[in-house]
Amino acid sequence: MIKKLETNAIRLQMERSQYFEHSTPLHLTSSFVFEDAEDMRASFAEEKKRNIYTRFTNPNTSEFIHKVADMERAEYGVSFATGMGAIFGTFAALLNAGDHVVSARSIFGSTHTLFTEYLLKWNIETSYFQIEEPESIKSLIQPNTKILYAQSPTNPGIDLLDLKLLGKIAKKHNLILIIDNCFATPYLQQPIKYCVDLEIHSATKLIDGQGRVLGGVTLGNSELIGKIYLFGRNSGSALSLFNAWILSKSIETLTVRVDRHCQTVLATAEFLESHPKINWVKYPFSKSHPQYKLAKKQMSQGGSIITFEVKGGLEAGRDFLNDLVMLSLSSNLGDSGSIVTHPASTTHRKLSEADRLEVGITDGMIRLSVGLEHKEDIQNDLKKAL
Ligand SMILES: Cc1ncc(COP(=O)(O)O)c(C=O)c1O
Repeated sequence: MIKKLETNAIRLQMERSQYFEHSTPLHLTSSFVFEDAEDMRASFAEEKKRNIYTRFTNPNTSEFIHKVADMERAEYGVSFATGMGAIFGTFAALLNAGDHVVSARSIFGSTHTLFTEYLLKWNIETSYFQIEEPESIKSLIQPNTKILYAQSPTNPGIDLLDLKLLGKIAKKHNLILIIDNCFATPYLQQPIKYCVDLEIHSATKLIDGQGRVLGGVTLGNSELIGKIYLFGRNSGSALSLFNAWILSKSIETLTVRVDRHCQTVLATAEFLESHPKINWVKYPFSKSHPQYKLAKKQMSQGGSIITFEVKGGLEAGRDFLNDLVMLSLSSNLGDSGSIVTHPASTTHRKLSEADRLEVGITDGMIRLSVGLEHKEDIQNDLKKAL
């Protein structure tokens, strides 16, 4: 029987060993043994589902994948060493030289670099659509287009894409639709409901939730996942089994952590919206978000990331960061500790102002990953810095 996702996040566990442990043990082994020559032959011939070597599978990575796939209602998944490993592994497994990709312009920076610097080496070109004009996707599709790629909500613009609309376009044109679901987590948004073929998570973010380990996972139907699994197995991009153990434990508390993140962000958004030194605030579940209705339709809560603009441009943004006492200046997000970044002077500093504006980054824009500290302490630090 399918249980509630909160329950499965705890109760989907690998088989107990002869020691009857309550908590999942760590199977720190690079390989597994066979009973006899026939067992070994049948395992290598894949006549038996069996752990052979940890670069292929390991009980800890399988448990982690099983739990995320259950939350996303996906058939299965493949884990990778990092989120970028999952993104590259997925493209590398599915694309052939000469294929074409249509992607949203607002995607994670390293994914953009994969398109512009690496996939081109295999003659794989990418065309971009503006996220506010998803209808333009149709005009970008070519006979060799194979993948439609996007992220929702976007980083750091916090804009949304209509997943149902993308699903319809992909289906009509026979494209593989892939969504980076990292900001929403499998708890708040399940793109597979909208005919999305594959979704990818950087498990480094809210899935770990405590800023300890890196990891990535791609989820979807068994046919596509089978191809991606073989690429991962042969290219050596396996998730560390220690990280898999940590991440599987983290999923046990994902729903309670994310509920608390979301409650604190809503209170923080209200505080910032009424502050005289703030121009605007953007959060999917704030009524002021231009896509509030869409957010309510496809997400169950708004996530842990909020952006806002301090009055005074680039200098004001940098000054604000310098005046914070408790909040961390760091590039990670989805951590128990609140983290602040100033995209215009850091991650997106190489872009011209016009290019930055195209992906929603203004000079005074701040990205705040709201943590699990008490909401009053977060607000007090923001208040002082403002
Ligand atoms: C939306 C998004 N996708 C992918 C990644 C890459 O994940 P990782 O750092 O685990 O490789 C990140 C990292 O910040 C991200 O924010």
